[in-house]
Amino acid sequence: MDTDNRRSFDLSSGAKPLVDPFGRAITYLRVSVTDRCDFRCVYCMSEQMSFLPKQDLLTLEELDRLCSAFIARGTRKLRLTGGEPLVRRDIMTLFRSLSHHLDTGALDELTLTTNGSQLAKYAKELAGFGVKRINVSLDTLDPVKFKALTRWGDLAKVLEGIDAAQDAGLHVKINAVALKGDNEDEIPTLMEWAHGRGMDLSLIEVMPLGDVGSERVDQYLPLSLVRARLAEKFTLEDIPFRTGGPARYVSVKETGGRLGFITPLTHNFCEGCNRVRITCTGTLYMCLGQEDAADLRTPLRASESDDLLQTAIEHAIARKPKGHDFVIDRRTQQPAVSRHMSMTGG
Ligand code: GTP
Ligand code: 5AD
Ligand code: SF4
Repeated sequence: MDTDNRRSFDLSSGAKPLVDPFGRAITYLRVSVTDRCDFRCVYCMSEQMSFLPKQDLLTLEELDRLCSAFIARGTRKLRLTGGEPLVRRDIMTLFRSLSHHLDTGALDELTLTTNGSQLAKYAKELAGFGVKRINVSLDTLDPVKFKALTRWGDLAKVLEGIDAAQDAGLHVKINAVALKGDNEDEIPTLMEWAHGRGMDLSLIEVMPLGDVGSERVDQYLPLSLVRARLAEKFTLEDIPFRTGGPARYVSVKETGGRLGFITPLTHNFCEGCNRVRITCTGTLYMCLGQEDAADLRTPLRASESDDLLQTAIEHAIARKPKGHDFVIDRRTQQPAVSRHMSMTGG
């Protein structure tokens, strides 16, 4: 893919890094390459979803150019998300072109968050493109529950994908959304399983994004409670380990593994926010929990040079909000934002 039009913006040539009004440097870009997914997780999507028409999507070349524009302004970590990123046709082409930024040292990490369904097919290629660690979403090891939670998923395929990823030398972190009633009793088992295979586990509080056809309050399980319960059986010790994402980690003495807590509801982490996300149509969301967004597709397509695009990015970062206003309780019936998580990939 063409890289010439990036030359005028490059930190090494004096371009300014992106810093928001609260002094937070934006170094982490999450890119949702498709809003489609081969699962329908109950906390993420409603059963009947309508997806974007294919002609609205940025091409892979355009996504590459967008990512490169951010890298030129100080993005050090790039995560492809979805929907399910590995269902986008030819997605390996994008990994290949983005991997050049790892070779030049402009990027520290190229990674993805995946539901694992296609990993058996792609794990080796991903490793070949410099991907070192990946996050796989998996909320239960019970095949019947798995089917119920994902509506369409097949646990065996995901487990096969995780095997393939580990065989390819990728470090795997498991992400599990803590769900009241559904997987709350299984969390210790999930943790022992992950740690037994040398994988970290991050637990996530469900967030009120989009109408999913059920009450958030019936899904929401505060991680403060989960941690207190785990602490009755395991020795948890806070550790300073960080991955650049929002998780805060403990080490678990009995398993020798690491457990992360992502707590948007019980412990807000927005003050340390270093990230923004773009969607597959080139919309930039400055905060996962707010509606405000900036169109980058128009400036991207308006000119071969990146000048207009860079100006649009600067203006957007200048209005990055302080944080989200998530609330989950019986009185709050509306989701914090109307879009589903699958649009921004979290
Ligand atoms: P690591 O590189 O392993 O730290 O990954 P990560 O936690 O940054 O990314 P991942 O895609 O695994 O996201 C895990 C969960 O964290 C998802 O449910 C995301 O929606 C959530 N998350 C990531 N960034 C933010 C954020 O800025 N705000 C909120 N509220 N949640 C976030
Ligand atoms: N709240 C919290 N996490 C969610 N995810 C999807 N929807 C939600 C939600 N409403 C998780 C997925 C995946 C990550 C990208 O976001 O399980 O791990
Ligand atoms: Fe698909 Fe991920 Fe949403 Fe599940 S959480 S439906 S796997 S995008």
